[in-house]
Amino acid sequence: MSTFKPEELDLEQLPLLGRGVWGSVFDLDDGTVLKLGKRIGGIGDGHEKLRHEAMVLDRLAQATPPIGSLLPVVVEWDLLDQAIQFEGEPHTIWVRQTKLAGQPATIDQVLGMNGTERRALAASVAESLAGLYGAFERAGVAADLRSSGGVADFQLGDIQLESMDRERLEKFRRIAALLEPADNHPIHGDFNISNILLDNGGRVVGVVDFAETRIGRVEEDICSVTSEIPDLREGYVSSLQSLLDQRIDREALEVFEIGSDLISMIISRYRFSDLREAERLEADVDRCLRRYAAA
Ligand SMILES: Nc1ncnc2c1ncn2[C@@H]1O[C@H](COP(=O)(O)OP(=O)(O)OP(=O)(O)O)[C@@H](O)[C@H]1O
Ligand SMILES: [Mg+2]
Repeated sequence: MSTFKPEELDLEQLPLLGRGVWGSVFDLDDGTVLKLGKRIGGIGDGHEKLRHEAMVLDRLAQATPPIGSLLPVVVEWDLLDQAIQFEGEPHTIWVRQTKLAGQPATIDQVLGMNGTERRALAASVAESLAGLYGAFERAGVAADLRSSGGVADFQLGDIQLESMDRERLEKFRRIAALLEPADNHPIHGDFNISNILLDNGGRVVGVVDFAETRIGRVEEDICSVTSEIPDLREGYVSSLQSLLDQRIDREALEVFEIGSDLISMIISRYRFSDLREAERLEADVDRCLRRYAAA
């Protein structure tokens, strides 16, 4: 039985490290963080996502040799009978995990880096992804993901898409189905820069957020960074290619970058009501989808 009682915390007084669609992350100031989740975040089931993350992290903690301090370790988690209200919404699941060093970079911060700093960052991100893949393999994560069915790709939960967006998604799926097949293996599933923690020197010291970890292909992980920061693409792909046995398929990467923009567009439009951002992404997505349709 856990003696930790999140309902007794004064959440307003705790440093808030992150706020996502499914819930919030607080610094407990004892070397751990608290992820407090809603069941209904709008994109998938919050309970399923956090439980899935705890399962993946528990398995990764068994990798021998261990991956070291790059990943959080789950201390405990539980469901709540009585919801905790935070920012007016009911939270019914919590996970306590070890706090990692470092801070996530922002896109602006990366864009402000000089060429040398960017190349070093790309190499370090590549190294951390390759290290993570090694740990997935050593810990036997693939078997767990295959038996649990993993987390569905592009899980849109209860979002009701309008017909134009349904068509965009269909078009994208048809394009992705034509890609050359590749090795499928565990992927992080949301390897964007908000989930990659850097030290002051710009080196990756932590990777978080395993709620979307699933079986997939490497280009799906790469696109999370490169669709947001195309300037990192060349350095990232070439560093990663030298670390992995499998071939990185440039065409697949381009297609998954479009998929990534499409999902960001859907989230901006239907969850955050950020119509400006949705329209900006829509223009890019449509241009790319048209190019593939014409090819
Ligand atoms: N174990 C940890 N150690 C240090 N910081 C953490 C840890 N877990 C999360 N964080 C911080 O909290 C932020 C949000 O955490 P996380 O990425 O797990 O959830 P989220 O992005 O809100 O979830 P989702 O993307 O599923 O909506 C991270 O970007 C990171 O800054
Ligand atoms: Mg995150």
